[in-house]
Amino acid sequence: MSLIYVTRLIPENGIKILKDAGHTVDINPDDRVLTKIELLSALRTKPYDAVLCLLTDTIDSEVFDAVPTAKIFSNYAVGFNNIDVDAARTRSVLVTNTPGALTHTVAEHTIGLMLSLTSRIAEGDRFMRAGKYTGWAPMLLTGADLKNKSFGLLGAGRIGVDTALIAHNGFGMNIMYYDIVRSAEIERATGAEFCESVDEVLSRADVVSIHVPLVDATRHLINAERLELMKPTAYIINTSRGPVIDEAALVEALKAGTIRGAGLDVFENEPALAEGLSELENVVITPHIASATDEARGKMAEMAAGAIIDALNGKEPQNLVR
Ligand code: GLV
Ligand code: GLV
Repeated sequence: MSLIYVTRLIPENGIKILKDAGHTVDINPDDRVLTKIELLSALRTKPYDAVLCLLTDTIDSEVFDAVPTAKIFSNYAVGFNNIDVDAARTRSVLVTNTPGALTHTVAEHTIGLMLSLTSRIAEGDRFMRAGKYTGWAPMLLTGADLKNKSFGLLGAGRIGVDTALIAHNGFGMNIMYYDIVRSAEIERATGAEFCESVDEVLSRADVVSIHVPLVDATRHLINAERLELMKPTAYIINTSRGPVIDEAALVEALKAGTIRGAGLDVFENEPALAEGLSELENVVITPHIASATDEARGKMAEMAAGAIIDALNGKEPQNLVR
């Protein structure tokens, strides 16, 4: 029997897997993010063998040292920029994530943000609720078609490829992409054109969608200069990590009409929004819920728990991040 700490309640199926394997599971009793100090003191209370953590927990050397007995930190997320992987490696602590479980779910949400912008769905909904509708009009809230438009992908990993497949097969969009490595898969599946640079995608695409991990090289990948490269009719969608976009620069670009709109599920300083963002009509914003379907969250719980079971059984868990 081992001791497992869970930093916040996740779907019950994950907890059940851990308990059914005979382990003792302690869960943060409050449904909120623990402060760093609370996390450290929770981890110091018992010699935990494993920790299941979330993308909202900053896991660094101090945290690893608070629980030197832990063999694994299983991150309930595909992104793992919240974890200092080098610090884990020097302590021989395993780190895992949950790729695959949410690929299609995030792709669907990305497409939802795109449609919401191009067909002005969220804006139209606000308009109706505000009682502004006085009858059909030829020029009322006109948007943009997607068919034959170009869908520019930054990052052709699993989620990027899945999103491109829907954009291509479902909407007849032409796919172009940039990644640090070429993807034979996306080129074969969608006829995607490889662009030589981020700048080329930005200057040519009608819809730009970001699917990169947050690392030093992608922080503020989209800044004021890069937004200037985009067409004034273009839209940008971000379902990856907020700091990939300089959010203040984006607000300025949206105000100035440098681009036509933005769909965001992630923000630079979550849960805060850049000043002025929520007042803009040409943005659609959702609260980091791109993977929040019953199916995906259940699967993430299963994978995160499964990795812990494997590690505790001395097996190498799948989805090690190093
Ligand atoms: C969500 O943002 C995730 O990384 O799983
Ligand atoms: C999602 O599963 C990804 O890793 O892109």
